[in-house]
Amino acid sequence: MAAVVKRARPGTGAHRLITSGMPPDYRVGHGLDAHRLVPGRPLFIGGVKVPDSPRGADAHSDGDVLLHALSDALLSCFALGDIGVLFPPNDPAFAGLASREILAAVLERVRQAAPEAEVINVAAVVTLDAPKLGPLRERVASTVVELLGVPAATVGVTFKTSEGLAPDHVQASVAVLVRG
Ligand code: C5P
Ligand code: MG
Repeated sequence: MAAVVKRARPGTGAHRLITSGMPPDYRVGHGLDAHRLVPGRPLFIGGVKVPDSPRGADAHSDGDVLLHALSDALLSCFALGDIGVLFPPNDPAFAGLASREILAAVLERVRQAAPEAEVINVAAVVTLDAPKLGPLRERVASTVVELLGVPAATVGVTFKTSEGLAPDHVQASVAVLVRG
């Protein structure tokens, strides 16, 4: 299983990565999503509505950055494009579409392409200056676990502020490891 790093040419400092032990049916996916925060909108993170948030995502859908980034990560795993291809943002048919439904459609698309696909684990980072999301960590993780139909403790969720660099944005970056 261990990747082996060998010096390519003595003295050049260049290195060659030989992934000798990695089974070819493991795939990594990565997705990223960001939305502007505006007053008068609910804020959804990983299928959970954040209580008492004065602002929510400005988006056609419910603007759930975690579920959007997760959906893109799953599609990317199998080179299936991204959710903008499945659900064009300017198509009125998809206005207000719940991100749970987007994820369900993505899982179906992945199942068509790779019937044996199995999510090994998910690592999600959400960047938001306020409010604090830490108290929601278990609810967010267990909701994503439920939506994916994976064993508990398969989904890790971490929260970060932007340190004031992007106070009007909410962002998620999600990595997945999939077998099959
Ligand atoms: O970004 P920073 O390192 O300052 O975040 C400190 C901690 O605050 C994080 O480890 C996270 O647990 C928590 N946090 C949070 N909700 C946020 C942002 C950060 O609970 N919206
Ligand atoms: Mg920090």
